[in-house]
Amino acid sequence: MSADSNTLVLEMRGICKSFPGVKALDGVNLSVRQGSVHVLVGENGAGKSTLMKILSGEHAIDAGEIHFKGQLLNHSNTSAALELGIAMIHQELSPILDMTIAENIFLGREPMKGFFVDFKRMVADTQALLDRLGLKYRAEQKMRELSIAGMQLVEISKAISRKAELVIMDEPTSAISDTEVSMLFRQVADLKVHGVAIIYITHKMDEIFQIADDITIIRDGQYVASDRATAFDEHKLISLMVGRTISSIFPKETVPIGEVALQVTGLTRHGVFKDISFSVRRGEILGLAGLIGAGRTEVMRAIFGLDKLDAGAVELEGKPMRVKSPADAIAQGVAMVSEDRKAEGLVLCRSVQENISLANLPKFAPRLLLDLKAEAESGQKMREMLQIKTASLDTTVSNLSGGNQQKIVIAKWLLGDLKVLILDEPTRGIDVGSKSEIHKLMTQFAKQGLAIIMISSELPEVLGMSDRIVVMHEGQITGELPRAQATQEKIMALATQAVAHDAVVH
Ligand SMILES: Nc1ncnc2c1ncn2[C@@H]1O[C@H](COP(=O)(O)OP(=O)(O)OP(=O)(O)O)[C@@H](O)[C@H]1O
Ligand SMILES: [Mg+2]
Repeated sequence: MSADSNTLVLEMRGICKSFPGVKALDGVNLSVRQGSVHVLVGENGAGKSTLMKILSGEHAIDAGEIHFKGQLLNHSNTSAALELGIAMIHQELSPILDMTIAENIFLGREPMKGFFVDFKRMVADTQALLDRLGLKYRAEQKMRELSIAGMQLVEISKAISRKAELVIMDEPTSAISDTEVSMLFRQVADLKVHGVAIIYITHKMDEIFQIADDITIIRDGQYVASDRATAFDEHKLISLMVGRTISSIFPKETVPIGEVALQVTGLTRHGVFKDISFSVRRGEILGLAGLIGAGRTEVMRAIFGLDKLDAGAVELEGKPMRVKSPADAIAQGVAMVSEDRKAEGLVLCRSVQENISLANLPKFAPRLLLDLKAEAESGQKMREMLQIKTASLDTTVSNLSGGNQQKIVIAKWLLGDLKVLILDEPTRGIDVGSKSEIHKLMTQFAKQGLAIIMISSELPEVLGMSDRIVVMHEGQITGELPRAQATQEKIMALATQAVAHDAVVH
């Protein structure tokens, strides 16, 4: 994609911002051209979201200047920013779950008919917008019914409908799969044609070069470099981001594969998934691929005891496993790192340390008082191993950057004594450096005989890390590929169209 305009729609100069104990931004510059896609990159905790929250009026600045459309910007809140034409799509989704899509999209600017909200028009306009964007939702559907990806797409539609001149997308694709990504990219191209500038934050390397006109890199709250995208290649970008070179993006090692650890047969939950059978062995990493909504998470939730099964059997190390709740699963050595860290993974108001220890509390509770020192040590170990960027272990988790929160979700399970580890989108929102650390850890756990099931919507990750890949489509398994035979094309074919049922290999 190319942007011809040299007119700057936005100039941020020398932006500084501190939080108690953290200098989040220390002299950052950002110049965005009209009708261009400007990709902002940096490691977890580098300050990307903070810079964007300043732009959208959520945070005040300590020092620096912002010029928007040639004028010094002095907005003090998000509605003022919206008025000016700046719309932000958040990294952490915060839609109001009990609202309908239409109510969410028109929040704060509902069409009126006399003294009353014109619901009919609101619904009709929303439906027209959804149809135009190719989204298969009904305007009257509740936000709650949508997947994370769906909510994200609705948030994007919302920004589009507000006719913003600058749209900020903070990791818009972290929770969506390739098909939906291309849908989003079409929207982005369309916005550009209309002269809208987009600031785009992502950790996905392949996306950066696909979409960027310009790139700005920040590290530890400081400005590093900015140029046309063509001036960078992946290697250069990574070393500017992390300040070192990374030896291998997917550090996969072949480890001995042992006995079957988990075997599921004929798992069914009416209307959600049907007749799911697969196994995973000790030392094996089983990749679970598919589009968003294919039912992968739902199957794993049922195995983990979060949802009920209507039929089917689960065996752990050859013995029937009965799970009524996640506590049962954990007690038997099966853990799950969820994709929705806010709802299931973290207690945001507690400290980093408490969150890391939380999963192990039931087991260690009687000894906990005596074990505070051990607890602090393992917390510290996790912090180093995963390079969690936090002022201290006592920091409240809600104050951490998105990627660092995700690392804590993973850390809390790694301390346990496990047989099977289910990872749902484990590196969503995680920077390249830490991503390869998490992949190394997965390999290390596999070496110790742990069976790992990894759901991932990032095909390079599925291909890079799995020993075997199971693909799902609309609640059913459509195929299984050994590592040696797996390609992006084969996975996509299985993920998008169900093959004849007798072609399923178990
Ligand atoms: N409200 C807050 N209170 C205290 N510290 C904060 C707050 N918001 C952000 N920080 C800190 O500021 C730093 C930058 O965080 P920010 O969320 O901007 O990072 P990021 O670049 O968006 O990272 P990620 O890729 O993980 O999303 C981090 O150290 C973070 O912990
Ligand atoms: Mg962020």
